[in-house]
Amino acid sequence: MVCLETDRLILRGWEERDVAPFAAMNADPRVMAFFPSTLTARESRKTYERLKSRAEANGFHFQPIEFKRSGSFAGFVGIARVTIDVDFAPAIEIGWRLPFDFWGKGYATEAATAWLDYGFGSLDLDEVVSFAVHSNKRSQNVMARIGMTRDPNGDFWHPDIAPGYDLARHFFYRIRKGEFLACKAK
Ligand SMILES: CC(C)(COP(=O)(O)OP(=O)(O)OC[C@H]1O[C@@H](n2cnc3c(N)ncnc32)[C@H](O)[C@@H]1OP(=O)(O)O)[C@@H](O)C(=O)NCCC(=O)NCCS
Repeated sequence: MVCLETDRLILRGWEERDVAPFAAMNADPRVMAFFPSTLTARESRKTYERLKSRAEANGFHFQPIEFKRSGSFAGFVGIARVTIDVDFAPAIEIGWRLPFDFWGKGYATEAATAWLDYGFGSLDLDEVVSFAVHSNKRSQNVMARIGMTRDPNGDFWHPDIAPGYDLARHFFYRIRKGEFLACKAK
C-alpha cells in the first residue's frame, strides 16, 4: 500500500475512521456538484469498501489524505487504472475529492504532485491521464497546476452517464513522464 508524505499531508491507506468524514464529504452538494447526485451514508460505505479493496489489491488507488498537523481526514487523491469503457483505456488516471472547507489551500495540488512523482518514479509509468466534466474548472485547474495539458482530441462523453446530459461531457488531460520530469527540474 502506497504511503507518501508531503510538506503538510500524509497520503495513506483507507481506515475505518475515514468512513464518517468520507460520507460527510460525499453528502455535500457543493462537493458533488459535478456528479449525478450526492451519496447516502450507505452508498459512501460501499464506495469506501470498493476504494479500500482496490487499493489493497493494486498497491495503489484513490487514497485518503490527512493533515500531518492534526491527523484528520482531508479527502482523497490518488492514481488508479481507468475502469470505464473509453478509447484511451488502458491507462492510469489521477483524481481527487476534498471536503469543501479544505478547498483553496493547495492541498489537492500538493498531494497530486506527490502521486505523479510516485507514478513516474516508483511505478515507471509512461503517462498519466485525467478527465473532468467540461465545466469543472477547479478540477481542471489542478490538472494544469501539476503540469497536465488538455488534449481536446481525447474529450469524450462519459459512458456511465446518460448521453447528451451536460455532466456527461468530459475534457481530457494528460501528462507524459518526460513532461513531468522537465516540470520538476524547473
Ligand atoms: C477539485 C478540487 C480537489 C480542487 O480543489 P482546490 O482547492 O481548487 O485545489 P487545490 O487544493 O490545489 O488548491 C488550489 C487553490 O488554493 C490556492 N492556494 C492557497 N495556498 C496554496 C498553496 N500553499 N499551494 C498551492 N495553492 C494554494 C491556490 O491559489 C488555488 O486557489 P484558486 O482556486 O483561487 O486558484 C475540489 O474542488 C473538489 O474536491 N471538488 C469536488 C470533487 C471533484 O470535482 N473532483 C474532481 C472530479 S473530476
